This record gives sequence, C-alpha cells and structure tokens, in this order.
Amino acid sequence: MGKIEEKVRLDRLLANSGYGSRSDVKALVRDGLVTVNGVPAGRTDIHINLSRDRIEVDGQPLKIAVHVYYMMNKPAGYVCSSKGGAHSTVFDLLEDADKGKRLGGELGIVGRLDLDTEGLLILTTDGELNHRLTSPKHRIPKTYFVKLENAVSEAGQKQYAEAVAAGVEIPPEDHEPGAVCRGGKLEWDSGNTCRLTIYEGLYHEVKRIFAALGNRVTFLKRISINHLSLDPALAPGSYRELTEQELSALTLTNHIL
Ligand code: URA
Repeated sequence: MGKIEEKVRLDRLLANSGYGSRSDVKALVRDGLVTVNGVPAGRTDIHINLSRDRIEVDGQPLKIAVHVYYMMNKPAGYVCSSKGGAHSTVFDLLEDADKGKRLGGELGIVGRLDLDTEGLLILTTDGELNHRLTSPKHRIPKTYFVKLENAVSEAGQKQYAEAVAAGVEIPPEDHEPGAVCRGGKLEWDSGNTCRLTIYEGLYHEVKRIFAALGNRVTFLKRISINHLSLDPALAPGSYRELTEQELSALTLTNHIL
C-alpha cells in the first residue's frame, strides 16, 4: 500500500478522509463532534498519531481513506495527462474536491488512453497498484472494443485472430521502437467490429497491431482491465469511486490466461 505518514494534522486527516472541506471539518471540530481519545479535539491544527490515537466523528470511529480509486468513462477529446495544452485533460473532468492530494499521495492515471480513445480509465493514489496493473511483467489483460475501417471476411477474421494469438510484429512509431507483441486474444462481433485483449500496453499497441495487419482502427474503447468491466451506466465523462467488489476484481491476480 506504500508508505503512509505516521503523524497528520487533524483537519487534513478529516478532509482527506471525505469529511468535507477544511471549513466543513473546522465546523465539525468547533461543534465538538470530533473526539481524540474520547476528548473533544477543540482545534484542528493538532497532530494525530495514526497508529495510536483513536478518533471519532459524531460518535463513529473515523474511517481513514488512505487511497482513492476512481473508475472513469473517458470521452474522446481528453488527454491522459496532468498538464493541459491544446486539449483538456481527464483531470478537468474531476470535481475540485476529488483532485486533491490524499494521505496516500497524488492521484495518478492507470495506463494512458489516446486522445481519441474512450472507455475505462482508472485514477488512483495507489502507486503500487498502478505499477502492478501497467507493468508488462504482470501481464494484466486489457480488453478493447475496436471498429475497423475495412470489413474482414470470415477467413480473414481467422487469420487476424491467429496472428494476434501468435504475437504481431509492430514497426517503430514516433519515438517508440518496433516490437513483437505478446500474444493476445481477438474475438469478432461482426466483419468490422471486434474485441481485442492485450497483456502489455505498448505505445499505441492496438492501433499498431491492426495497422500491421493492413487495416485501420476508426473507433477504440477500453471495456475492461483485469476482471473489472466498465460500468455501462457510467456516461462518457463521468466517474465514481470503485466499490470494494470492483477493486477486488481489478486487483485479482490469479487470472486464467
Ligand atoms: N492502444 C492504442 O492504440 N490506443 C489506446 O488508447 C490504447 C491502446
């Protein structure tokens, strides 16, 4: 889970744990609703020892949120970067209160999607999980829904699927070297729509695979990462916290390949 600070100011602890803004938590403390080891805190600038002190808010033990995990349905036209530029970034889609630093650190993007790619994007403060999900070493499956420019015959579909399973050789692109992709899985929905599961996440991997096969991706949407699928009820541009069950689905590592 990463290193967590041992001592934290009370107002930061409460605000970071979802008890409202700094002024909201000040009001909670002023109204005597926050106790530290059974005694009303009195002020917000006291330091709390996370491993020793017992905090209650309105009679309930404090739920400390060290990390946060969001599922977003990324729309096209947003870049996966914290810095703006010519385009809006996925961080612009977040409420101000959700952008802030947590006890576990800054919010990061798990596996970037291109400007024109849509779909499942995870944002989290959990750097260790981020690394585990994106490092090619861990072979985490990511599935994309793909629309192609040119319809493919049934015989061609079989050839594409076999080539993908064997590992497609992709030429260099921009500053990225060429590579032989690790074997993936291709399932066809129609002559020009399919679902591709890959296990690495190389630069523009999906677009480069289909380009190498002589076609072109015209629409790309990530629909799952590991065992977690994009919530179909989540509108493009919306996001929400993962449920515990979804977090388990995302982090489960003994998947059958
Ligand atoms: N592969 C691509 O080509 N683009 C993406 O956004 C994700 C995977």
